[in-house]
Amino acid sequence: MPFYVTTPIYYVNAEPHLGHAYSTIAADILARHMRQRGEDVFFLTGTDEHGEPVAQAAERLGTTPRELADRNSVRFRDLAARVNATNDFFIRTSDPEHVAEVRRIVQGLYDSGHVYAGVYEGWYCDRCADFKTESELVDGKCPIHLITLEKRHEENYFFRLSSFQEALERLYAENRDFVSPGSRFNEALNFIRQGLEDISISRSAISWGVPVPWDERHVIYVWIDALLNYYTALAYAREGEDLTERFWPATVHVIGKDILKFHAVIWPAMLMASGLEVPERLFIHGYLLMDEHKMSKSLGNVIDPFQVMDLYGTDALRFYLFREVGFGQDGNVSTEGFETRYTTELANEYGNLASRTLAMVSRYRDGAVPAGEPPAALVAVFEGAPEAIAACFDRSDISGALEQIWERVRELNRFVAEQAPWQLAKDPAQAERLDSVLYGLVEGLRVVSLLLLPIVPEAAERLLIALGAAHERSLVAARFGAVAGGAQTGELPQLFPKIEREPEPSAA
Ligand code: MSP
Repeated sequence: MPFYVTTPIYYVNAEPHLGHAYSTIAADILARHMRQRGEDVFFLTGTDEHGEPVAQAAERLGTTPRELADRNSVRFRDLAARVNATNDFFIRTSDPEHVAEVRRIVQGLYDSGHVYAGVYEGWYCDRCADFKTESELVDGKCPIHLITLEKRHEENYFFRLSSFQEALERLYAENRDFVSPGSRFNEALNFIRQGLEDISISRSAISWGVPVPWDERHVIYVWIDALLNYYTALAYAREGEDLTERFWPATVHVIGKDILKFHAVIWPAMLMASGLEVPERLFIHGYLLMDEHKMSKSLGNVIDPFQVMDLYGTDALRFYLFREVGFGQDGNVSTEGFETRYTTELANEYGNLASRTLAMVSRYRDGAVPAGEPPAALVAVFEGAPEAIAACFDRSDISGALEQIWERVRELNRFVAEQAPWQLAKDPAQAERLDSVLYGLVEGLRVVSLLLLPIVPEAAERLLIALGAAHERSLVAARFGAVAGGAQTGELPQLFPKIEREPEPSAA
């Protein structure tokens, strides 16, 4: 089955922060999981490069929008690589192929009567690059950026969003899974039910964008240009091959809650107007907060994901974000919380368990995994695990999947404490039982590592190699007892080393 997953494309007016890494890692986890299931996966990320915020940032920095886009796009590309994202392509909305396709599609909307010329008057926030309705304003200010807004009067081209009211209501009625979590589904549907107004899809005040094909005094509104990336990329992502047939419609767009309206209302309407299929689902994640505030460049409370990964490694970041904050909800992140999870969960519960198990197999059985009887207690613990975890992933419930996996990690720790193999080793009469316990631990670690591969790919891979079980990475192999004893184990580099921090400079 084709599985096409996307991240939002990131604005290049600022440098990447943890919030951006979050969307990318989430989509990557889903992509890796689906590959483990043998599905035909395409994973897209990229940068959103046109529009007023980028043009303004460039002006502030005394450079051109194109130069700023070139510079910052690389930073986002580096971030994707650094978080170990396995994206199949990295789109830039300045790509000539994208630009040409956007023009073609928007021309099609014009030709088919979905776009008309009109005059727009409204409150405009140039940081959002969006008009705000009267009811959204807070004391005349943008509710997000808290800056005073000016009234703008502009000749624009409009998209007849209002004519899709019924079609959108039908889409939502027929497809309860179109938007999740459910609260976001309701939010989008309520917005639609309040009555849709036509939206302006061109700007004449700026020139940094895709020119409107029939009237080059205007550029296409950045959001229209940006949303289309999900579709345009497929045609040119792979040289000499058009992947559109194979992967459209997208399976899931992973996005943050601030951009729900664009994806849940405008995007499906645009696709319908263009005669294209709408995506199967949208998954809306929450905000990463610092001390209860949204982490954002404009508030200055951002964590630099590169720094975190330099210190703790990529896996630790990938793990922490989905363990600490329920995927789909808002949640606080902090350095302290990070360290706690790193030490107690990754280093102790997973890393230590692995190194102790391997040490015992080495000491008591010369490094060969004994062909012991699978311990009944562990058979029960792992019964149905791959299915339960796949079911979570099918709902994009990454935190739920991780919780399911971690329950098993904890069970393995409980098991080793109860069975005390170091005691069994002292009594030759217990050799068979020791075989069974060691086999159970190795097999349990193999299964949890397979299940963890999408989330902590580096550590899980290293452990699978050390367990002598790296040849089979598919989800079907994540069945307890699927691999018999006999494998030769190897060295395990410390998976999650103790962090040596630079001492704080003393105040004296
Ligand atoms: N360019 C648009 C998206 C166009 S998609 C067709 C955009 N870019 S963005 O760079 O501002 O944000 C990209 C994503 O990062 C959004 O999904 C946003 O929710 C996410 N995050 C930015 N800050 C965040 C947090 N503090 N926490 C979690 N995610 C947040 O919007």
